[in-house]
Amino acid sequence: MCGIVGYVGPRDSQDILLAGLARLEYRGYDSAGIALIDGDGSLHSAKKAGKLARLRDELLSHPIAAGTTGIGHTRWATHGGPTDVNAHPHLADDDRLAVIHNGIIENFAELKAELIAEGHAFRSETDTEVAAVLLGREYRAHGSDLVAAFRAVARRLEGAFTLLAMHQDHPGLVVGARRNSPLVIGLGDGENFLGSDVAAFVEHTRRAVAIGQDQIVAITPDGVTVTDFDGAEVESSPFEVMWDASAAEKGGWSSFMAKEVAEEPEAVANTMRGRVQDGQIVIPELDGMDELFAGVSRIVIVAAGTAAYAGLVGKYAIEQWTRIPVEVELAHEFRYRDPIVGPDTLVISISQSGETMDTLMAVKEAARLGAKTLSICNTQGATIPRESDAIVYTHAGPEVAVASTKAFVAQITALYLFALHVARIRGTLSPETQAEQIAELSALPAKIQWVLDNEQERIEQFAHWMADTRSVLFLGRHVGYPIALEGALKLKELSYIHAEGFAAGELKHGPIALIEPGQPVFVIVPSPSDSPVLHSKVVSNIQEIRARGARVIAIAETGDAAVLPHADEVLRVPLAAPLFAPILAVVPLHIFAMGLANAKGLDVDQPRNLAKSVTVE
Ligand code: F6R
Repeated sequence: MCGIVGYVGPRDSQDILLAGLARLEYRGYDSAGIALIDGDGSLHSAKKAGKLARLRDELLSHPIAAGTTGIGHTRWATHGGPTDVNAHPHLADDDRLAVIHNGIIENFAELKAELIAEGHAFRSETDTEVAAVLLGREYRAHGSDLVAAFRAVARRLEGAFTLLAMHQDHPGLVVGARRNSPLVIGLGDGENFLGSDVAAFVEHTRRAVAIGQDQIVAITPDGVTVTDFDGAEVESSPFEVMWDASAAEKGGWSSFMAKEVAEEPEAVANTMRGRVQDGQIVIPELDGMDELFAGVSRIVIVAAGTAAYAGLVGKYAIEQWTRIPVEVELAHEFRYRDPIVGPDTLVISISQSGETMDTLMAVKEAARLGAKTLSICNTQGATIPRESDAIVYTHAGPEVAVASTKAFVAQITALYLFALHVARIRGTLSPETQAEQIAELSALPAKIQWVLDNEQERIEQFAHWMADTRSVLFLGRHVGYPIALEGALKLKELSYIHAEGFAAGELKHGPIALIEPGQPVFVIVPSPSDSPVLHSKVVSNIQEIRARGARVIAIAETGDAAVLPHADEVLRVPLAAPLFAPILAVVPLHIFAMGLANAKGLDVDQPRNLAKSVTVE
């Protein structure tokens, strides 16, 4: 939610800022803007509503002076609509000071009233401009000491914010502050960077430092200083970004989503890499936690959206293998319902970005109530893992398309690795069963690849034929149920088509009323050999809807001939044990949602109204 980039160094900052914003655009694309300080010490800015391309056009038609100190912003609108005026940067102190912001300043109305009473004027409806005007006032009050003024501002703000500021009196200095929103430093040679995440600068450096909660950073070409909001210096340890710039580029694919769906086999393989040794699960990040896992009496998974659906799939495996009861709760519901968790509860958060505010707040609430917290996360240095007692990273690589695909299969993989690890500690699986499950997991990348190689073209063609569809339903049972939810979510967000996912058994309790002649219904069909009972139940459900005219698209394993007479279309996936089947069944659904959006000419990477990293509650 909002992407932020800052640069100080010897190079022209405009290109660096625009390239950084291009990599951060997945965080929001309602408007974009930059500010820079030129060689004469004058501040220049440009901003435009709409995607980054509109800002680029603006800079071509109305160029601004070159400068080596700069900040840039790509916005997901919160306070104030997506207009030119509300776009960042916001200027103050007679336009000599520029501020960009990610987050929500909760006490902005009160601060604004205070500043208006003092005679300050505002141009926009944003909470950010309040921070800018306040900084202008504090700058004067602090004898033109930008860092001291910035600290004073940070102490006054409530809510969530990453703020960057620069002042034309201080070329070669960008200051940043962070509370509940992400900010990472990129350490260069004679130049330094700031970004909402490492994608902003990974093209220039892979050495990074994550800024902690309630900290201020000041970067110059030669140095970086991190303090708390009171000015006390803070130790920070650099880390090496595990992927390079090419991983965050399209590299010849038509969209990031096409690339990321193609990377699903690799995302699973990389998440497993090094974690299966001599037929055993080895997760060094969880060393020293055996006692906790042996004693824990309950697991609560908190997450949002697709990550929550990964959690729902994980519940089946964790309960089956470890016999620990698992609840999966939407993070935003967990926090505000006085949840019952304590020292005997393990709260697992799942988040691709590691920045989702709802999930972060749930983790903090769980920790406050005394629970141990474990983060399953795809983004190094992100806030949620930093706030958790333990981390298991998914290694899906950077996910740029706003809708999550490869991270989903990686999250399920990480949950399964965790479940098998805990099952060994608790002795709840025989060595043979443990070995069988590990073999199933290890076979997944090749099986996902099979779906991509053998079914993708056909599914895309099929999606093309369905481009005029107004509504699609998805049904599944057992682990197929969360996959039905994921299929529906992906279709909604990419194609703007009404879509609903249901537990197949629930149909007769109401949703069957939606079925009318021609209604397309995807059905995830369990294996007839491994789950004969569930298979026959789902086939019965298919018959019920077909009798009412539904057009059934079954996702079924390659050997399942029994489903043929009951389906209008069958999409095939390889045979896998029941708990592993969903990781295969979701692949056709990701391809279908992407294919249908493409057929409608929509932007699959940046669907309307969305942002990848939802850092507001
Ligand atoms: C859907 C999607 C979202 C995210 C959700 C959580 O395609 O991407 O539903 O899964 O916003 O995001 P993370 O995983 O970053 O916490």
